Amino acid sequence: MEKARKRAEELRRELERHEHLYYVLDAPEVSDAEYDALMRELRELEAKHPEIVTAESPTQRVGGKPAEGFEKRQHSRAMLSLDNAYNEAELREWDRRVRELAGDAAVKYVAELKLDGLSLALTYETGSLKSGVTRGDGQTGEDVTSNVRTIKSVPLSVSAERLKKAGVAAEFEVRGEVVMPLSAFERLNEEREREGLAAAVNPRNAAAGTLRTLEPKIVATRRLDFYAYFLLEKGEYFKAGQEATLEKLAALGFKVNPHRVCVESVDALLKFIEKAENEREGLGYEIDGVVIKVDAQATQQRLGYTGRAPRWAIAYKFAARAGETTVREITVQVGRTGKLTPVAELEPVFIGGTTVSRATLHNADFIERLGLRPGDVVKVERGGDVIPKVVEVLKKGGAKKAFVFPSSCPECGSHVVRAEGEVDFRCPNAACQAKLRESLLHFGSRGVMNIEGLGEAVVAQLLEKGLVKSPAELYGLKVEELAALERFGEKSATALIDEIERSKKAGLARVLMGLGVRFVGERTAQLLAEEFGDIDALSAATAEELERVNEVGPKVAAAVIEFFAEPGNQKLVAALRKAGVEMTAEKKVRTEQLAGLTFVLTGTLPTMTREEAKERIESAGGKCAGSVSKKTSYVVAGEDAGSKLEKARELGVKVIDEDGLREMLKAGNS
Ligand code: IVH
Repeated sequence: MEKARKRAEELRRELERHEHLYYVLDAPEVSDAEYDALMRELRELEAKHPEIVTAESPTQRVGGKPAEGFEKRQHSRAMLSLDNAYNEAELREWDRRVRELAGDAAVKYVAELKLDGLSLALTYETGSLKSGVTRGDGQTGEDVTSNVRTIKSVPLSVSAERLKKAGVAAEFEVRGEVVMPLSAFERLNEEREREGLAAAVNPRNAAAGTLRTLEPKIVATRRLDFYAYFLLEKGEYFKAGQEATLEKLAALGFKVNPHRVCVESVDALLKFIEKAENEREGLGYEIDGVVIKVDAQATQQRLGYTGRAPRWAIAYKFAARAGETTVREITVQVGRTGKLTPVAELEPVFIGGTTVSRATLHNADFIERLGLRPGDVVKVERGGDVIPKVVEVLKKGGAKKAFVFPSSCPECGSHVVRAEGEVDFRCPNAACQAKLRESLLHFGSRGVMNIEGLGEAVVAQLLEKGLVKSPAELYGLKVEELAALERFGEKSATALIDEIERSKKAGLARVLMGLGVRFVGERTAQLLAEEFGDIDALSAATAEELERVNEVGPKVAAAVIEFFAEPGNQKLVAALRKAGVEMTAEKKVRTEQLAGLTFVLTGTLPTMTREEAKERIESAGGKCAGSVSKKTSYVVAGEDAGSKLEKARELGVKVIDEDGLREMLKAGNS
């Protein structure tokens, strides 16, 4: 046991070091596989010896029980907002005021990027992360600790050594910004689109929504990032000033944004602002300006606060990347799932480096809310790589009649339906060509079956000629058939056939994505594939078996079951099989995570029956006993637990609830 504990400590230090190198410094020393191997060793060790698990272990980032709601927490000191400057004149005016109020003191500024996320306060006690609280109304925020723990750039603990070196007490608070990197945002939206859900509007909303998600394991998949900018002790800002604060934060292991300057003049500030605006597109996350702070704490104190903002800081806001243009017409697109999305066809307009000619209008309600008619002049905004959106009607005077959402599918003419309580209209026709076209494009797309060359033009011709009626029929295509298509020759036809052939080996996870099971994105598909190993096992799985998989909850489980229950989908799977598409994956062997442990069940568990719990403990290598003794490893207590619970307390046996048991059952399943 001591040996295990020591090894676990070693592994944790090693993993923390690699996480810091990877997520904070962006300078990894080992490959992902090497990191995974260390993590696996630690997980296995901890599963074998649950008593050595610590809250700060890197395995415990996703460990806290899913909150049922978020508790309110008072901030140690108010989290204020910032006043804004929108141009050079306003910035100069602010600088003049600062110098006036600063008196004799020389003024130095620190300019940082204004990250477009949401602010968060982290408190550490004895060096360990105790809470993560959102800004809320500035006085009180929401305790989202279990979600914050999943953010890899947030240290779960800061070693005594680092604290000592930095001269920081073990009780401290860090404030900073949580952002969703653009790559994560795009991935999220691709996933949402595949699942037939509305796209998140921008990375900030997506980050805010993610932090308020009740499932930490979902939060963990979103790859949020945290940049620190304030350090507080006992509710007071760190004395040495802003630049020194940022250096301290970095020394403690926090991620500090590298784009910043410490300067003395407004001219130098303006130079930094210009540079930031130029580099904005390539940062990989959204910024909406530059925050300028007076460096010296004594001067900060002298300047003080207005009602809602410090006088010693200001946000220089970039002009929004927006443009004005006319809506030529409103068209309606049919997606893979049959969802109808209205689209504004625009007079092309140049916004922030790209020409925008189309913008999504989301749904019929959105058009109505805007009061938009074809011919109106609108304001279009775009942020990062986000889909451009119409935000406002600037000038009416377009068509006399309001846009009427079509009652039939623009592609196949079927009468469209709108399910009760839903905003979207759908085409119910399973044979709708638009659905088929979108399904084929999705099937072949990068990250799915990855069939290079299966683009829009080819798919359109395949449909027109009636060569393909389902993704499975792609595998029956012949070189001659393709060679006869427009802009195709023998060589390109052979290349595409080769690509299609190659895709047969893409594996179960890719096939699952290709099939377009609702709510099953890249990661979930991977986890399902590894758990079940082949499509037959997966399609026969019960909800309970599905939910045993990490990150799979009742919603995903129900969607998987619904998918395989549908005869059309069964036919598609059979046809893919017949075509020779491999639908297997390497199964991850489960470790006997409960080997050597004895459990006693008592009381009524919230969702598992006694039999179920017993079966699952035993299939994970554990034992169940009828009475509590010193040999009992855990008592699993539910409602109305009686004498066994008392006995456990008497003997000092660990007591867990159903959630705790579920976590232990999952521990070996990563
Ligand atoms: S300082 C009172 N620094 O901008 C101090 N804020 O518009 C205010 N923000 O609520 C925070 N990047 O969420 C600071 N480098 C940065 C920032 C930053 C983004 C956000 C923060 C704040 C909002 C104010």
